Amino acid sequence: MTSRNILLLFIVLFAFGSCKQQPKDSSEFSPEKAKETLDFAIQQYKGMIPKVPEGVLPSSFIDGEFKTTGINGWVSGFYPGSLWYLYEYSNDESLKAEAEKKTWLLEPIKNNTGTHDLGFMIFCSYGNAYRITKNEDYAPVIIKGSESLSTRFNETAGVIKSWDFTRGDDWSYPVIIDNMMNLEMLLWASDYSDNPRFKEIALSHADTTMKHHYREDYSTWHVVDYDTVNGGAKGKMTHQGYSDESSWARGQAWGLYGYTMMYRMTGRTKYLDFAKKIADFILTHPNLPEDKIPYWDFDAPDIPDTYRDASSGAIIASALLDMSKLVNDKSLSTLYYDNASQMLSSLSSPDYLAELNENGNFILMHGVGHLPGNSQIDVPLSYGDYYFIEALVRYLDAQ
Ligand code: GLY
Repeated sequence: MTSRNILLLFIVLFAFGSCKQQPKDSSEFSPEKAKETLDFAIQQYKGMIPKVPEGVLPSSFIDGEFKTTGINGWVSGFYPGSLWYLYEYSNDESLKAEAEKKTWLLEPIKNNTGTHDLGFMIFCSYGNAYRITKNEDYAPVIIKGSESLSTRFNETAGVIKSWDFTRGDDWSYPVIIDNMMNLEMLLWASDYSDNPRFKEIALSHADTTMKHHYREDYSTWHVVDYDTVNGGAKGKMTHQGYSDESSWARGQAWGLYGYTMMYRMTGRTKYLDFAKKIADFILTHPNLPEDKIPYWDFDAPDIPDTYRDASSGAIIASALLDMSKLVNDKSLSTLYYDNASQMLSSLSSPDYLAELNENGNFILMHGVGHLPGNSQIDVPLSYGDYYFIEALVRYLDAQ
């Protein structure tokens, strides 16, 4: 072959190579499928709106019954939050009207100092409302909510107290890994109101949690009981997981999302490095099923004959898409993106996605709220829907 022919051969091979459609990832997920699922979510939530009684918010659908929460329940912010995301995606004014109405319904919770969940409740609702509309009326509620949450911080322990209820003598100052999720509101409020105190509390909570909540393999305990006299941890246990030493799936998900968010909000590399280690634990776990939707606890003894938790899958997918954008390393970014795509592909399949107007008009089936408490097992969960919608929107943003 002459050198001219070799050159021609290379040109032909290169031209064919670049014409061939390369899938962006190994899953079957695609922007078209994400849009189809979001369009379905809109139809499903439009069908839910007339079912929601005045003064309460949807939480689940159990044994054919539509379940709701009052404004002070920890899940109260997810329904308005889901509506805000769906409005942002579609510009559908009827979704905005319901989102506004249900967001303002939550206003009194800004004064609630009896829960650590104010970040979930206020930032998913008011936070998204402000982010999307830039209406300044929403901001004071977020600031007041941050002041209320800050009253639960103890300087000696260095963390925000999660629960006021006890379980025998098991704990006196319990902090659950879920609490990492409430820090985004504090960081936003610190920046918005130029108040360094909120940020100091968020940093202290995140750093103390890194120190006491995580095991050597970067799995997390669910509950840590703190010593408010001498500082440090007094006990480590579970409440919603299989056992004290097991890895409750949603706890792993909250931690992954929490530390990724801490990096996005502060730029401090140690948080991203930590999130990478958590991702590694989850993605390489031998009990993570092929469809990438975790069982409710990574150490449930009856795996594979036990429940999946779709909500954990949705939270992890959303966090991985955030990570995929934040990491500099191209191969890590692809790894996180591909795994998130596989999770979204599974969740968008009939295995997890409801039929139109079924499932109480929630989008996802198969969530587990509190298995040891025999509560909300294999049911839709409003937070599963919220993080699924967020992940779908993040997936489309990544294209
Ligand atoms: N924050 C409570 C739960 O994840 O179930």
